[in-house]
Amino acid sequence: MRESLGTGLRSKRLFDGNQARSASPTTESGYAPIVSSALPKPLRGVPHPIPYQGSKRQLAHYIVSLFPAGTVRLVEPFAGSAAVSLAAGHMKRVRRWTINDLHRPLISLWTEIVREPEEISDQYEKVWRAQIGDERAHYDRVRSRFNAHHRPADFLYLLARCVKAAIRYNARGEFNNSPDNRRLGALPSTMRRHIVGASALLKGKCSLSSMDYREVLESARPGDLVYMDPPYQGVVDTHNHRYRHGIAFDEFTAALESLRRRSIPFIVSYDGRTGSKRYGRSLPASLGLTHVEVPAGRSTQATLLGRDDSTFESLYLSPEIPVDLRHLRHGPRMSVETASLFAESA
Ligand SMILES: C[S@@+](CC[C@H](N)C(=O)[O-])C[C@H]1O[C@@H](n2cnc3c(N)ncnc32)[C@H](O)[C@@H]1O
Repeated sequence: MRESLGTGLRSKRLFDGNQARSASPTTESGYAPIVSSALPKPLRGVPHPIPYQGSKRQLAHYIVSLFPAGTVRLVEPFAGSAAVSLAAGHMKRVRRWTINDLHRPLISLWTEIVREPEEISDQYEKVWRAQIGDERAHYDRVRSRFNAHHRPADFLYLLARCVKAAIRYNARGEFNNSPDNRRLGALPSTMRRHIVGASALLKGKCSLSSMDYREVLESARPGDLVYMDPPYQGVVDTHNHRYRHGIAFDEFTAALESLRRRSIPFIVSYDGRTGSKRYGRSLPASLGLTHVEVPAGRSTQATLLGRDDSTFESLYLSPEIPVDLRHLRHGPRMSVETASLFAESA
């Protein structure tokens, strides 16, 4: 049984009379999200060559399982390490990809990984081996070289070695994150396996680009599935260089409205919450999306303080995404309360 949940308005109607049973606080958008109770686990065996802070590796399996049957192309305008694209390839859920990210060095690295996997693996191995015995100074040399020449293998080494795999630039646009001195970065043999695996999934089947997400969305067609994971709200201001580019809330919601008008299915990762503390703005109910909250573990701070503040990530699904009720109940399971609400609505 595949059945569409319909619009967010339907969710609203479903939940309005049941607020007491909903596990989650109502959001500023005016309706409560559906809360999934099981912690999604990353799929084993999916190649993942680019270490990346904010990667959706943990949730990718869950996200891909929501794709409508018959989806041919996955469009990822904010691809980063492309965790969802790789999971979709591994799960054989799509046959073509559009992988885009405004950050040009990242797309240059992806281009090498997809098209020249052995060559970029050899280059990574050379950079990696040259660090032995002189690790700290080597990192600084590679960082200066990357800032001068933007070579993909240097970027990969920096990401593999830097603190929290976080891309950080100073005001002059120079990569300035420090090395994590506890680790040397993935072994060349491990990195090669991930690179060759990613290339095997994507080579000849993906277009790679580095442009603003809105341009990419213009090329989306019904039958595609667009997955969007924009930079986290609150860390995109000019004083925080975790990402070099940000997006404006109003422009983003206008872009989503345009997808809605064109009936293009999409899934957005947007806000989230830890316990009852919500971070980021919710997407407006007027978009008519279904809002699902997926557990993403406990926050480190809450664990340290001994509090049970579970973290949830939000997914917003456009109405073209058919929600398989059995899947929601038995795949990544829904809470008992939510499942009973689904039963009432079925
Ligand atoms: C949260 S990360 C995506 C992480 C990704 N889902 C993964 O699994 O690795 C957001 C990405 O959006 C990119 N970005 C920021 N502004 C953008 C824009 N205006 N257009 C396209 N990409 C943008 C950033 O460079 C960053 O890689």
